[in-house]
Amino acid sequence: MTDNNLRIGVVGAGVMGSGHLEYLTQDVPGATVVALAEPNESLRQSVLEKFDVTCESFDTLEEMLDGVELDGVVIASPDRFHAESIKVCLSRGIPALCEKPLAQTLEDAEELSALAQQSLKDVGRPLIHLGFMRRFDPPFVEVKKLIESGELGEVLYINASTRNVASPHIKSEELLTNIAIHEVDTLRWLLSDEWSDLTVLAGRSASAAPEGTQDPIVLTGRMSQGVVIVADIFANNSYGYDVRCELTFEHGVVRVGIWGDITVVRNHEHPAHPAFELGENWIARFRQAYVNELVEWTGTLRGTASESLATVEDGRRALEVLDWVL
Ligand SMILES: NC(=O)c1ccc[n+]([C@@H]2O[C@H](COP(=O)([O-])OP(=O)(O)OC[C@H]3O[C@@H](n4cnc5c(N)ncnc54)[C@H](O)[C@@H]3O)[C@@H](O)[C@H]2O)c1
Repeated sequence: MTDNNLRIGVVGAGVMGSGHLEYLTQDVPGATVVALAEPNESLRQSVLEKFDVTCESFDTLEEMLDGVELDGVVIASPDRFHAESIKVCLSRGIPALCEKPLAQTLEDAEELSALAQQSLKDVGRPLIHLGFMRRFDPPFVEVKKLIESGELGEVLYINASTRNVASPHIKSEELLTNIAIHEVDTLRWLLSDEWSDLTVLAGRSASAAPEGTQDPIVLTGRMSQGVVIVADIFANNSYGYDVRCELTFEHGVVRVGIWGDITVVRNHEHPAHPAFELGENWIARFRQAYVNELVEWTGTLRGTASESLATVEDGRRALEVLDWVL
């Protein structure tokens, strides 16, 4: 860190990596992207040009860490590389914010958990955080406050959907480890409770689903304090990015709508609901969540502990729950 300016490296220049590069450059004070690791050289160059960033670029995380001094890295490579990249960061003592999931199997998650616990003992603070960004999404944060206020009584039941527009190569198990993992973490965090039960219902698959992939799926589950959850996960909905969550309380209903709009229904009153266009992916809906997450994470690089950022343990727990049905 020079002059209080954090030197950040980004891994992956796809949808999420280029997003993080943009937010770090435009929206996060005191942080500069000084390196980008991405094996696709032409993509790397076009992303740097698009956001007018001049920095060193590399093919791999390891080359980047050998080539430049960094205060932290943001990992946004495909899921299958996360476990290895986290191990590299832990072994070199480099703080990282890694996109979800922590890993693709519970076995890898458990190995990372043991390494992270050892590192916590050695370094005295968590080096690895995970990009479960709904914890930083203003509407979800507001709903958490509403739950904790007790204003509407206890939450009884939750109905949630996460539906992506197109995921051309997704496999059945990735609907769980790549998409449903958001619901698993968000509901643990929102309710401050652990999952006690999870089942998957599979039915008719969409014609847009890749050959052999079950898409959509419906999850039914329960939290240890009795809240029942029904969530559908759809990777190829073809109509527009659609994330919703409806919580039924003892004295009302709260909805986080597709555009992050919050509707509170109580006392026989339902507020007006304007029409809007759906996005092609998650970037527009969750932009502020990504920025807030990066601001919190860069705070940890300056020594501020975070209560909200997901840890390796959160990532392991999410995979443990999904492993019941994988
Ligand atoms: N938190 C969220 O809201 C959210 C949303 C979407 C995706 N994600 C996660 O973000 C990650 C990236 O997703 P995406 O949609 O940007 O994917 P993407 O396919 O658009 O981009 C991935 C990029 O990583 C590059 N890459 C491949 N191997 C690499 C390696 N070893 N090192 C560095 N770069 C490598 C690829 O060339 C590609 O450009 C995934 O793990 C995904 O699960 C998170």
